[in-house]
Amino acid sequence: MEICDPPETNFMNRTRRLPLLAALLLATQVRAEDFQGSTHPLEYDAAPIRYSASVPDDPVARLAKRIQAGEVKLSWDDKFGYLPGLLDVLQIPRSSQTVVFSKSSLQRSFITPKNPRSVYFNDDIYIGSVPGSPLLEISAVDPKLGAIFYTLDQEKLRKPKFIRSADCLQCHGGQRSLGVPGHVLRSVPTDAEGELETRDEVGDIDHCTPLADRWAGWFVTGKVGAQTHRGNLIGSEDFARRLREPDFRGNVTDLKGFFDPAKTLIVGSDIVALMVLQHQAHMHNYLTRLNFDARQMLAMYGHIRYLKPQTDAFLRCLLFTEETPLREPIEGSPEFMREFSAAGPRDRLGRSLRDLDLRTRIFKYPCSFLILNPAFDALPAPMRDSILTRLHGILTGMDQDPQFAKIAAADRQAILEILRETKPSLPDVWRVQK
Ligand code: HEC
Repeated sequence: MEICDPPETNFMNRTRRLPLLAALLLATQVRAEDFQGSTHPLEYDAAPIRYSASVPDDPVARLAKRIQAGEVKLSWDDKFGYLPGLLDVLQIPRSSQTVVFSKSSLQRSFITPKNPRSVYFNDDIYIGSVPGSPLLEISAVDPKLGAIFYTLDQEKLRKPKFIRSADCLQCHGGQRSLGVPGHVLRSVPTDAEGELETRDEVGDIDHCTPLADRWAGWFVTGKVGAQTHRGNLIGSEDFARRLREPDFRGNVTDLKGFFDPAKTLIVGSDIVALMVLQHQAHMHNYLTRLNFDARQMLAMYGHIRYLKPQTDAFLRCLLFTEETPLREPIEGSPEFMREFSAAGPRDRLGRSLRDLDLRTRIFKYPCSFLILNPAFDALPAPMRDSILTRLHGILTGMDQDPQFAKIAAADRQAILEILRETKPSLPDVWRVQK
């Protein structure tokens, strides 16, 4: 497959192998489609979207302006550079740290199992950091444009600069992110150095991926009981041993034996953070995809009636109808759980869509907390209203669509009540009492 060379930028000079790697990525297996055509890249640089030509309004763009205006100073740390300061000003909890050792991303030459990459996130921002590498990688969600990608040089300056980069789209703007600029998460076995063994890859990971297929190439701390996953396995011998001993490296709580713990900000690569990250990243991609699809349809036909397969698939994802059930409880870092749950609004009974279950499924109430995200509210009005109206039908039981039959009556009722109290500006049908 031919890949055009991306425009030269300062960091491209340091990462010459990029086009080859991107080609490799495109050639390897991707999972079954979420809906027909979901992996086809959309023409998001054409009207009406104009992704690259639009000026983004995301939390990092806003921070960049404040730094330039001298209103905020980004603190510098002699060991981690701008990473800790950036997490603090962007309010990204350190407890969200997950650690990946596969050479699957931009700064692959720096990444090894002994020098892994850390990823941090909050609801709208994702940051990647590799020890000793020249730059931080950042993606931030613009509610209308999807993920916007930036680099920040790890070089102490009076006013550090975020550079918006188009090169990231080679991996973050195509078939692995629902055809739109978005997030990518893979489960790829590696050799002992972190080099990919893509024939055993299990495509994009999200809350539907069986646990047993998840997290190859990642470190995972936490307990899963007798369930298995592919985290913490480095090289084919580890994978072979895992087949003989299903529990091998399944319940790891300490990464000391793998790499120098001083290389990361906190200790661990929390399993619950990974589960939330992978649900959230996929949902963000969906929101961008629905936004772009709806805007294109409205521009072309003036309606969104052809988008039923997309909205159905989105609602199934939103309501976790295809989530992989947990057979045993998951135990992760109490800090992450506490900080993640504390961030959300609660109803009068103290319930929140961010409450974690972790016994049979991720969340207590199976409706994604991203329904409260600005990216949901930025959907074109006909799309947003059509989703919320159908959701109301599903939750009240007036809509008997078999796709949603699995959702328990008590869950429907709880979600209905929580949303009524925590989601502003619901369409009128929501106000009418049954
Ligand atoms: C060669 C493909 C590739 C390129 C190019 C690439 N990435 Fe990624 N990126 C990945 C993969 C794969 C992941 C998933 C984690 C992993 O495997 O390290 C990822 C993860 C991330 C994440 C964590 C959130 C997420 O989407 O999963 C951020 C942030 C990120 N990349 C930023 C960037 C930025 C900024 C650029 C451009 C400067 C970039 N990436 C270029 C492959 C790439």
